[in-house]
Parts: sequence; structure tokens; C-alpha cells
Amino acid sequence: MTPSPYDEDIGYQLFLPTTFTPEVATYRCAERRLLGHILTSHSTVVELGCGKGENLLFVRERGLAYVGVDPSQSYIREAEVIWRNWLGASCSFIVGSADSLADWEPRVSSHPPERVLFMPFNCLGNVADVEAVVDALSRTPATVVVSVFNDAAATLLLRQRYYLSAGFDTVERRSKWGTVCVGPYGFRSTGFDEKILLDAFYKRKYKVRAVPLTPVAFAIVGRTPATLR
Ligand SMILES: C[S@@+](CC[C@H](N)C(=O)[O-])C[C@H]1O[C@@H](n2cnc3c(N)ncnc32)[C@H](O)[C@@H]1O
Repeated sequence: MTPSPYDEDIGYQLFLPTTFTPEVATYRCAERRLLGHILTSHSTVVELGCGKGENLLFVRERGLAYVGVDPSQSYIREAEVIWRNWLGASCSFIVGSADSLADWEPRVSSHPPERVLFMPFNCLGNVADVEAVVDALSRTPATVVVSVFNDAAATLLLRQRYYLSAGFDTVERRSKWGTVCVGPYGFRSTGFDEKILLDAFYKRKYKVRAVPLTPVAFAIVGRTPATLR
């Protein structure tokens, strides 16, 4: 299996507000604000790449069901301890990855299809095969909110500063999606060219648009083809 920094404590440094640059902190606020606007007509949020469930309260306080999904067993174990008083039929955590949607998605299918599938904080940037994830997502009925870093030169600089402050000294590579920052412990994170990412969704007949979040980030928002049928 490919090593992941999220299997180690050091990976969690990336989630700590103390390591955020002001731009990263603003990005986190902006993606939550966008999620808040979208939630009104939905009943469940499935957060893919949920970490230790930082967004659980935001969702539950609005009266919606929450399912947090993350490939890191240790984050999910900790999340289940931190949020133990909230767990129940309307609130749960699952160990699962964007790369293996079919393995865990049946476990959330009991929730009504007015679901939001939220991939926060550049989680898509961590996946190895973006094309395969966009493809797999297309078969699940949901409104998608996929929030990512953009590929601007200024964004790359601030990402590198943010990764460094979390202990990840990265080097950059180009990929078809944008600029990939590669670092120790198997760290790999892509900042996305908006048009190229949007095209991958259009190609699969999603009804989506790109929404600017801050100067460093945007979100792909809309419905999967499985919802439109
Ligand atoms: C929020 S993301 C991104 C962190 C950082 N902001 C960046 O730019 O790369 C990190 C979270 O996504 C999760 N994650 C990593 N790879 C994933 C995958 N293939 N599917 C779902 N979640 C994943 C990690 O376990 C972690 O909790």
C-alpha cells in the first residue's frame, strides 16, 4: 500500500489552524460558507476526507445527518471518541477512500438521495487517480461540492509555505491537472487548473459549475449524472 502522511501524527499538522497561513484559514472559512449555502435543500452530508470530523458540528447544528469518511483509520478512531456523544443513526464515521467508493458507498445509501458529497480542503488533491474518482462519483446520487486549491503561481507559493510550516518540505511537479507538491511521508497534493478539472466533470455529464472561493481556491458544485436520471 502507498504510504500516507495521514497514517502518522505529522499529517495532522496540515489540519492545525496554527500552521495555516491567513490565506489557508480564509479558504477553510470560505468552503464552509459555501457548504452552508448549499445545504438548505438537503438532508445528509457525506464528508469525504473528513479528517477527525472538524465539520461535523457545522452540519449537525443545521439539523442534517452527517457521515464522515476518511482512509486514515487513526483519524476515524479519534473522531469516534471526540464526537461520541453525537454518534447514532444520523451521525457516523466510516473508514473509506475516494479511490474505493464502491466499497463504502452502499453504507450511506440508506440516507435519502438528497445528499451532499463534500470533498473539503483539497482532499481531491491527495488522490492518485483523479479521473477514476470523478468517474466513480458520477454513479452515486448526490450534489457534489469538491473544494480545491487552484493552480495560480501565487497559490503554489503559499501552499509550499503552508506545507513547510506543517513539516512538509515539498518540491513541485507538473501533471495534467496542475501543479503537484511532493514531499516526505508519501505527501502528494495537487493544485488544480480550473478548466481541466471542470472538463473532467463535464465529460461525464455532471451538471456542475466552478465557484470561486478565495484567490487561492475554487469549488466544483452541482449534481452527478446519477442524481439527474
Ligand atoms: C483535507 S485533505 C488535504 C490536506 C492539505 N490541505 C492539502 O492541500 O493537501 C487531507 C485529508 O484527506 C484525507 N485523504 C487523503 N487521501 C484521501 C483519499 N484518497 N480519499 C479520501 N480522503 C483522503 C486524509 O486522510 C486527510 O484526512
